[in-house]
Amino acid sequence: MDPRLNVIDERLSGIKKIIAVSGGKGGVGKSSVSSMMALVLKSIGKEVGLLDLDLSGPTDHIILGLEDVFPEEEKGIIPPRLRGIKFMSIVYFVKENPLPFRGEDFSNAIIELLAITRWGDLDYLIVDMPPGIGDTALDVIRVIKNIEFIMVGNQSKLTLRTLKKVIEMSKKSGKKVLGVIENMGISKDNEKENKLTFLDVPFLGIIGFDGEYESSLGSTDKLLRTQFAQDLKEIIFDNREAFF
Ligand SMILES: Nc1ncnc2c1ncn2[C@@H]1O[C@H](COP(=O)(O)OP(=O)(O)OP(=O)(O)O)[C@@H](O)[C@H]1O
Ligand SMILES: [Mg+2]
Repeated sequence: MDPRLNVIDERLSGIKKIIAVSGGKGGVGKSSVSSMMALVLKSIGKEVGLLDLDLSGPTDHIILGLEDVFPEEEKGIIPPRLRGIKFMSIVYFVKENPLPFRGEDFSNAIIELLAITRWGDLDYLIVDMPPGIGDTALDVIRVIKNIEFIMVGNQSKLTLRTLKKVIEMSKKSGKKVLGVIENMGISKDNEKENKLTFLDVPFLGIIGFDGEYESSLGSTDKLLRTQFAQDLKEIIFDNREAFF
């Protein structure tokens, strides 16, 4: 057995709730929802960590506007704080260079990141998942025992099929799916026709398409003032049993 797995349990032991943001399909808004969820939870006074596990396409540092920092080493790695959020990403180590990783390298990197990071005490750790139902999802399920999932989706048939598969996989592996969030929802008034309400997990709510979001990227102040942040905050307070 990999001795790092025991270290991971210890590293995560001070965290009250670990939420992976997934959904299967690419480009549905997993990174945006993860980063914004970390920001919104921090803004209401929670102690929050954010882990970008999209190793081949990390973007959370761009969303939140990470300056050129390097994490401190002290019996592990201490995640630097970004607007108060403890933030960990592969970008600290590889900068913007493409990762020459294949197969097992990804598993190794994920286990290594989890084994070295000293999160300390957190109310929430938000984990941004890569697209697909591949190795990362399986590793996360295997390695992070008390992980729970929030799925991000939309009304497209193409998204729904993959979404159903990830939900099924998460449930089969005994992990709780807190619910699904519709992102870039265009209309809010036809809930009965909302295909996401027919999945067998709670429907948490809609984040509308936000024309201001793109121009707010990189500035946490601007991001917190967006309708996106407002919609997400409502979702969090409307679904207390899922989030608190
Ligand atoms: N609610 C929204 N309003 C407007 N634009 C959005 C919204 N959510 C996401 N976007 C935009 O949609 C695109 C995809 O978002 P994002 O990168 O968060 O998705 P993702 O699921 O993480 O993608 P990937 O699968 O590549 O990791 C980005 O250009 C982002 O700026
Ligand atoms: Mg992403």
